[in-house]
Amino acid sequence: MIKLKPILFSAVQPSGQLTIGNYIGTMRHWSNLQNHYQCLYCIADLHALTTFNKEIFFKESVLDTLALYLACGIDPEKSIIFIQSHVHQHCQLNWILNCFSHFGELSRMTQFKTKIDKNYIKKINVGLFTYPILMASDILLYQTTFVPIGQDQKQHLELVRDIAKRCNFLYGNVFTIPKPCIHQSGSKIMSLLEPTKKMSKSDLNKNNVIFLLEQKKSIFLKIKNAVTDSEKPSKIYYNLQKKAGISNLLEILSAITNKEITFLEKELDGIMYSEFKNIIAEELYNFLSPIKESFLYYRNNTSYLEKVAYEGALKARLQADLTLHKIYSKLNFFSSFK
Ligand code: TYM
Repeated sequence: MIKLKPILFSAVQPSGQLTIGNYIGTMRHWSNLQNHYQCLYCIADLHALTTFNKEIFFKESVLDTLALYLACGIDPEKSIIFIQSHVHQHCQLNWILNCFSHFGELSRMTQFKTKIDKNYIKKINVGLFTYPILMASDILLYQTTFVPIGQDQKQHLELVRDIAKRCNFLYGNVFTIPKPCIHQSGSKIMSLLEPTKKMSKSDLNKNNVIFLLEQKKSIFLKIKNAVTDSEKPSKIYYNLQKKAGISNLLEILSAITNKEITFLEKELDGIMYSEFKNIIAEELYNFLSPIKESFLYYRNNTSYLEKVAYEGALKARLQADLTLHKIYSKLNFFSSFK
């Protein structure tokens, strides 16, 4: 008997250039995971519509993200790579799950509340509010067991689990209950100038963020300007309360060098902050250079990217149809599925 591998699903919104936060928080694990699970890696373009702004060239952002997936080692022979809007079943399941989700539970989502509090977006669209239900559709459509994400998506995942359990309670075994995979280290990379706030690709202050395709000069400048602290004499150690900036820089360095933070603390003992920053900038540049080179290779081959997206969508649709068929039948829909 063939033992099927558990299904793993993850996605990124192509709502701007991807950051080292996206990479360290989740994407750095994706290529290894392909060897152990049946992986689906999605580009969540429908989610990006919730914060749509005319300056984002949608098609270009999707192609950039796809090229970055490949540059980060995602192999279309091993994983299904696809674009959310190419698989219409996501929206079909989305509507059904809307009808099994509660206004109250969506109102409690902190990410949504933060966005309205800060008046981050002038006019709040309903899509931003119901956004986690589309995430539920993405995940549940494939009977996913594991979902690698950063810390900021944890609450959304809890909601997805609640929706799935509710449907299972009402209709029997419809969905696999997914589990979040959140790594202990690097699951919340913070902003460089405001190290108590998450690094985000949509940050209006680009000095807060290092992009995966950042130029050498600006890597050095942004890291040089990163907020530290005024402890005298200066000392490099991890302490989120007292040393948010230094702790964040240590987290970044640890992720890209694969060295434990405790090891780095000893290695960097006695050096000045400016020297520490130089080391990080140098390491970051060396780390990001091959990703950038590989990105350019794929990005200049649009027909290959289109082929990957086309074939990925075909494979994803086949799997998605099975779940959609299942839920239609549980709901006793008059369905033309056979
Ligand atoms: P998005 O595009 O905001 O982020 C993509 C992934 O990167 C993680 N991440 C971070 N991790 C650590 N530090 C940071 N500063 C940081 N910033 C982002 C996120 O936690 C996420 O894992 N709604 C999702 C996309 C999505 C999705 C899904 C994810 C759509 N459907 C289904 C998983 C499963 C989002 O906006 O991620």
